[in-house]
Amino acid sequence: MYETREIAVGVYWVGVRDWDRRLFDALIPMPAGTTYNSYLVEGREKVALIDTVNPGFEGELKGKLEQLGSWGKIDYLIMNHAEPDHAGGIPFVLEHNPRAKLVLNAKGAKLAKALFHVGEERMQLVQDGDRLELGGRTLRFIEAPFLHWPETMFTFLEQEKVLFPCDFFGSHHAGGAFADEVPDLLAYAKKYFGEIMMPFAKNGRNGLAKLEGMEIRMIAPSHGPVHRDPEPIVNSYLSWTSGETVPKVTICYATMWQATKAMVDVFAQTLMREGVDAQVYNLAVSDLASIAGDLVDSRGIVLGGPTVLNGLHPLALHAANVVRVIKPPAKYAALLSSYGWGGGAVKQALEVLAPLKLEALGAIDVNGYPTADDLKKTEELARKMAQRVKEPLT
Ligand SMILES: Cc1cc2nc3c(=O)[nH]c(=O)nc-3n(C[C@H](O)[C@H](O)[C@H](O)COP(=O)(O)O)c2cc1C
Ligand SMILES: [Fe+2]
Ligand SMILES: [Fe+2]
Repeated sequence: MYETREIAVGVYWVGVRDWDRRLFDALIPMPAGTTYNSYLVEGREKVALIDTVNPGFEGELKGKLEQLGSWGKIDYLIMNHAEPDHAGGIPFVLEHNPRAKLVLNAKGAKLAKALFHVGEERMQLVQDGDRLELGGRTLRFIEAPFLHWPETMFTFLEQEKVLFPCDFFGSHHAGGAFADEVPDLLAYAKKYFGEIMMPFAKNGRNGLAKLEGMEIRMIAPSHGPVHRDPEPIVNSYLSWTSGETVPKVTICYATMWQATKAMVDVFAQTLMREGVDAQVYNLAVSDLASIAGDLVDSRGIVLGGPTVLNGLHPLALHAANVVRVIKPPAKYAALLSSYGWGGGAVKQALEVLAPLKLEALGAIDVNGYPTADDLKKTEELARKMAQRVKEPLT
């Protein structure tokens, strides 16, 4: 007996739980695993499947659909997004459901061809605002580019008012059925937002604007539990996409012989003494997902890392590169570093972070271990950062 769930009348969750997955995109840790959510929508005349599952889980999806009596009878396979964690099962579903048309937009068609070699004869193209009648049930498509790829769209079930937004509003969490049953779900959703959606914050605002004024009773994303009360996640997304920050500083650092750490400790303690929230991550033992989550609303960023082979320590360099591409809304930055002879870390850090247009409040680069005077300068820099992040927003 497979686990399926009727989340609204005639709408079934037929997704799978990947309890074991620990890494996404070969980059982002996911300590609580994830789900790949697929949904079956039964109309009087037609049956639609919204998204599939990650490669390797097709058999489980098939078992669930057999149990519900729909395997082999799918009329429409909706592709909200072409990334293989949702679209990887498309070839298998099309092969075993000869009637099924793959419903997707023009950009999706290109990707489905390139990634899954789907023939045009199996495709049915849709555009923003198009409707698909299933008999007493109508699906409407809402294009939502770059949430998460250019082809992404949301599907809306008009009668039951269920939104299927694919990656948007998701979380990497394998357990639970409904968001309100999972303690700390919003903390997972925030990390996920930081990793996946923060680089597309503007597109996120556009997507939210398209949903404004719509009555939505339930949000059924493609990762993590279903939001049967849409309000908490929608309000969180309104805030996270807005780039609003709080007086908080995220400090990421690498250290080999503790010189950089000595400065990080003074910096963090000073911030906390000044009443500023400081989150400290030693990159050798920290996960990027937690850092991304904290960067969603941090007003300041501190990067620490010594010089190694004329440049920034590779772990700090990696973190700087990740920060650059996930585009956090922070306003202020500071650098803490130590070198033995020629240096080079600070120069490289500044180069990597330059595109972010952070206001650099200062860089401290000490030779060897920081002296009492260096630590005093570190404290002064931290006080300056505290003052700036506590300033009222204009
Ligand atoms: C593997 C390795 C490579 C290093 N390469 C350089 C270098 O190219 N230039 C330099 O100025 N210092 C170099 N150093 C010296 C460190 O930058 C120096 O020891 C620094 O104080 C270490 O800071 P930490 O205690 O925060 O790790 C290197 C040290 C190590 C262990
Ligand atoms: Fe995706
Ligand atoms: Fe995804």
